[in-house]
Amino acid sequence: MCGIVGYSGHRPAVALVVEALHRLEYRGYDSAGVACVQQGSLCVSKAQGKLTQLEQLLSQEAPSTATTAMGHTRWATHGAPAVRNAHPHLSNDKSLALVHNGIIENYLEIKNELLAKGYSFYSDTDTEVLVNLIQECHKQEPDIEKAFAMALNKAHGAYAVCLMDKDQPDVFYAARMSAPLILGVGTGENFVASDIPAFLPYTRKVVFLEDGEMVRATSSSYEVRKIADLSHVDVSVQTIEWDVQAAQKSGYRHFMLKEIFEQPKVIQDAMSGRISASKDEILLPELDALPVPGRLTIVACGTSSHAGLWGRHLLESVAGIGVQVEIASEYRYKETLIFQPGEMVLVISQSGETADTLAALRRARECGATVLGLCNVVGSSIAREAHSVLYTQAGPEISVASTKAMCSQMLLLTLMALYWGQRKGILSSEKCAEYVQSLLSLPEILENSLHDMHDTAKRLARKYAQAKNFFYLGRGHCFSLALEGALKLKELSYIHAEGYASGEMKHGPIALIDSSFPTFAICLNDALLPKVKSNVVEVQARQGHVIALTNKGVDLAVDDAWIIPEVPGVLAAYVVLPALQLFSYEVADYLGKDVDQPRNLAKSVTVE
Ligand code: G6P
Repeated sequence: MCGIVGYSGHRPAVALVVEALHRLEYRGYDSAGVACVQQGSLCVSKAQGKLTQLEQLLSQEAPSTATTAMGHTRWATHGAPAVRNAHPHLSNDKSLALVHNGIIENYLEIKNELLAKGYSFYSDTDTEVLVNLIQECHKQEPDIEKAFAMALNKAHGAYAVCLMDKDQPDVFYAARMSAPLILGVGTGENFVASDIPAFLPYTRKVVFLEDGEMVRATSSSYEVRKIADLSHVDVSVQTIEWDVQAAQKSGYRHFMLKEIFEQPKVIQDAMSGRISASKDEILLPELDALPVPGRLTIVACGTSSHAGLWGRHLLESVAGIGVQVEIASEYRYKETLIFQPGEMVLVISQSGETADTLAALRRARECGATVLGLCNVVGSSIAREAHSVLYTQAGPEISVASTKAMCSQMLLLTLMALYWGQRKGILSSEKCAEYVQSLLSLPEILENSLHDMHDTAKRLARKYAQAKNFFYLGRGHCFSLALEGALKLKELSYIHAEGYASGEMKHGPIALIDSSFPTFAICLNDALLPKVKSNVVEVQARQGHVIALTNKGVDLAVDDAWIIPEVPGVLAAYVVLPALQLFSYEVADYLGKDVDQPRNLAKSVTVE
C-alpha cells in the first residue's frame, strides 16, 4: 500500500527511483510520480495507472541529470486515483515536494487553518496539506529539518514521508510514524524505501527506522533524529540475509506461481533449527521464558486470520489450549477486552505492518496482555512491538495475494501446538516424533505432486472460469481452508466466492444453488468424510456441479474428483492449500486478470 523511494548518490537518480518503485509494485497502487531538483527548481512528473505510464511520460521529457530524487506509488485513500492526487505534492511556493504513505487524521483542521492563511489546494489529499504545513512552519523556522519536525509534530496519524527542498538538491529527508520506512546504507549513496527489495540490488545494509524518527540523508551521510525534539539517535546498521534472487520471478510467469511452488522449501525453512536432533522435541527458544498460555486469542487479518483459524484445531487438540480467533479490525475497537488469567494474545501478520493488526496488538498490550507476534518480515512494527516474536522465515512474498506465507504460518502454529503440548506434559515424545515425521515428509510429498496439481488446476480452471459464483465447503480444520480458497478466488479472479462450513449450507446458502453455481468441496479421507459426502449430495440434488478435492479410494460421484496425496490428520491441510491456490491462480490467469497485483488490493495494508 503506497510505495516510497528516496535516493541520494552518484547514479542517475530518477531512473533509479523508477526502477526501485517497480520492486515495490507488489504493494498495490493506482498512480505514480517522481521528483528531483533541476536548475534550482523542483521537477515533478506524475501519471495515473501503472509505472509504464510514468516511464512513457518521462521518456518525452529531457533526461534528468539529478543524482538525488524521490518517488512514490499511490494506493488511493484521500481522493480518487488521478494525476492531481498522485504524489509528489508541491508546496504552494514550489520550494518543497513530499511523498507520503498513510493518513494524516487531523488534515481537515490543518487545511482550514492554511486556507485561512491564503493557501490554495489543487488535490484532495492530506499529503498536500502536510507539505503546505511544512512551508508554513518554514516561515518561522529557517532550518528546513526543524520546520519538517515542527509540522510532523502537529500532524496526527500514521505516516511514512519523504521530503525534498529545492534549495538542497542533494538531500532528502524522511520520517516514520506507524508506517514502514527503511534506510538503505550504500557506498557513496543512501536510500530510503517502504520495503527492502526497492534498494536490494545496491545494498544489503539497512537501518530499521523506529516510529517517531526522521532522517536527513545525502550521498555520503545520514543522521537519524527524534521527530519530537530533534535529538540524535544512535542507530545500528543490520545486514539483510536474503538476496535479489529471492525477490525475482526466477522464470515463473508470476510471483504468485513461484511462491506457490516454493512451499516445500518454505516448510523446510520454517522447521529449520526448531526440531531437536532426536526428532522428538520442538525447540522454540523464543517462547521458553513465557508461561504456557491457559487460553489464546489469535488476532489477524485476511489470509493470516485463516491460518489462525486453522491453527486453532491443533492448539486445542494437541496442546489443550482453548483458542478464539478474532479479526483485527473488529478486535481493536471492542468495547471490552476480557482476559482470563494466563490468557495470551497471538497476532499473525506476514508483513508485520497491517494497521489493524498493529492497533490490536497495542490495545491488547495496553490492557496488560502478553502479546506474541508471528511475522514474516524481520524488524517490522509488529515484530518489534510484540513481547516475543516468532519468524516464519518464508522469504519475501511479493504477490499481493498471500500463499507461501500462510503455509509458513500454519507450520509455526503446528510447532507451537507441539511445543506447548510437550511443555504441559500432555504430548509424549513418541507422539511428538510421529508429528515430526509427518512434517518432515511434507516437502517431498509436495515436490512430487505440485506439478500434477498445477495441470489439474489448469484443466479445471478452463471448465469453471465462466462461473459467476462459487461455494467452497469444508468441515473441521478444512473449514478454514474453504474460507481461504474462496478468498483467493475472489481476490484474484473477481468471481464471487463464499467459504462455508459444509454443515451450515442447509441453513440458508443452499437456496442459491442451481446448475450455474458450482461448489468446491474439500472431501478428505478422514473421520468427517461421511458428513461432507452428505453435504455434497445435498448440493447435487439442487443441480449444483461439484469439484471435490479428495483422496484416492474415496467413493464420490461428482463432476470432477481432484485426487491429492493422502496425508493423515490435520497435516493434510499442507496439500489442500496449494491445490486451492493453484485453482484460483489458473482461473485468474485464464481470465486475463493481473494475478500478482489484483485490482483494489494492497500487499501491506497500512491504513485502517
Ligand atoms: C492484505 C493482503 C492479504 C493479507 C492481509 C493481511 O489484505 O492482500 O493477502 O492476508 O493483507 O496481511 P498481513 O501482512 O497482516 O498478513
